[in-house]
Amino acid sequence: LKDFGVQNEPVLGYRAGSRERGELADELKRTSAVTEDVPIVIGDQNIKDGEPKFQVMPHNHGRKIAKFYYASEKTIQKAISVSVEAQARWDRTPYEERVRIWERAADLMAGEHRQRLNAATMLGQSKTVVQGEIDAAAELIDFFRFNVFFLKENAKYQPISENPQVTRNSMRFRGIDGFIAAISPFNFTAIGGNLAYTPALMGNGVVWKPSDTAVLSNWRIFNIMREAGLPPGVVNFVPADGPTFGKTITSSPHLAGINFTGSVPTFNWIWGAVAKNLDRYRNYPRLIGECGGKNYHFIHPTADVESVVTSTIRSAFEYCGQKCSACSRMYVPRSLYEPIKEGLVKERSKLKVGDVTDFSVFMGAVIDDKAFARITSYIKNAKNNPQNKILGGGEFDDSKGYFVQPTIIETTDPHDRLMVEEIFGPVLTMYVYEDKDLMQALSLVGSSTKFALTGAVFASDKAFLELALEELKPTAGNFYINDKSTGSVVGQQPFGGGRMSGTNDKAGGPTYVMRWTSPQSIKETF
Ligand code: ALA
Repeated sequence: LKDFGVQNEPVLGYRAGSRERGELADELKRTSAVTEDVPIVIGDQNIKDGEPKFQVMPHNHGRKIAKFYYASEKTIQKAISVSVEAQARWDRTPYEERVRIWERAADLMAGEHRQRLNAATMLGQSKTVVQGEIDAAAELIDFFRFNVFFLKENAKYQPISENPQVTRNSMRFRGIDGFIAAISPFNFTAIGGNLAYTPALMGNGVVWKPSDTAVLSNWRIFNIMREAGLPPGVVNFVPADGPTFGKTITSSPHLAGINFTGSVPTFNWIWGAVAKNLDRYRNYPRLIGECGGKNYHFIHPTADVESVVTSTIRSAFEYCGQKCSACSRMYVPRSLYEPIKEGLVKERSKLKVGDVTDFSVFMGAVIDDKAFARITSYIKNAKNNPQNKILGGGEFDDSKGYFVQPTIIETTDPHDRLMVEEIFGPVLTMYVYEDKDLMQALSLVGSSTKFALTGAVFASDKAFLELALEELKPTAGNFYINDKSTGSVVGQQPFGGGRMSGTNDKAGGPTYVMRWTSPQSIKETF
């Protein structure tokens, strides 16, 4: 293997008796004992004058773990001016200096702040210890370290042709004058860190609106960056009501870009608002969006049943199916129907759902009351629809936390809502095709939804795998062969989808950082 000088952060095991387990248990106690008061931060000013809001624990919604404030339009305007001013200074900071801050931050995240980030993610976003570790530790740290590496590598891309007697040519990678709005989701703490801090690394000023349901973990990232030496004003922490934030940023003449992860309707709204305001801007704003999916596992008759079952259970139900990459539709050949169905039903029944501070739990609660209502409405509809059959699960209870049992549904209609709409919860739908109709079933994968985020095929027939690779080319930005559709690793599988799943700018890959620069070519004549 070539040594690039950058490596993925090892994932800790949290075995009973381990040091990390003890530290995490202490941190979980500390974090759950208080309601942290989280201000809006603009420059070096803490502001608490907006409408107060609370972040609760999804698995115990009576417990508030953070109080925060919705910034008013005026406060958002102020964050915009401060970030525009800071950008001008920040872009002059030599990149070696910027890089040192990111490296220090990554070391803090990997060391003394690791358990604080994990605890905030577990309690606030209802992740199990393993899911918290791969997100708020490993992936977050990887984003910081790999983006620094990609920045250094890309800075080497210089013009290769010149007339050495009379001219020298070079390129420099400037930030964009103006501000970048980062709008991040609840489901990955690491995505919050990447959305806000990658544009900043590249010399931009940022106004960051964290998700209401991930405020605490995102606030901890913000503080680590201050501790690592990021000057005030480069990134401003601005929780806000979505529509107010959206209207204010898209109507500002200083808008230079939006780094977004969330739903298709919100991204479509953003795109429309930017189009309407084009005459106001000084830059064409960069629009980067990661919008969701209807990810598939397609099973060929030659697939290994055990691997299909394990991979599908993990992809569909880890973190309650709330990864944008989660498998939610499955195509199964009649010849493998019985063993796959039995395997899934058996494995599903073993999954323990509950309070994530119990380390033996596999799944916590879904994120909030809105998610609970949306997911359970799909389950209720399925129960009343004769073409759908619940094979396992289907129960839910929100009396203490927003708990939905992992649910497996079989449908006879490949165009049923369950097979085409994003549910974003622990609901897996299976459609059984006749083996002789293999090609027809394969064509359903791409034709039945507008999404193209992740997908997986399971087969041992090499000729079929080659065919699937071609036939399914437009249906997934991240494509897996004999493996689950979730779990991309920074630097290993750059992540992003095509079609209506987003602009496919591949977070965690070498090209992503360059989207946040406005390169300048310089020709010097002697
Ligand atoms: N990057 C995350 C995954 O692949 C969303 O599961």
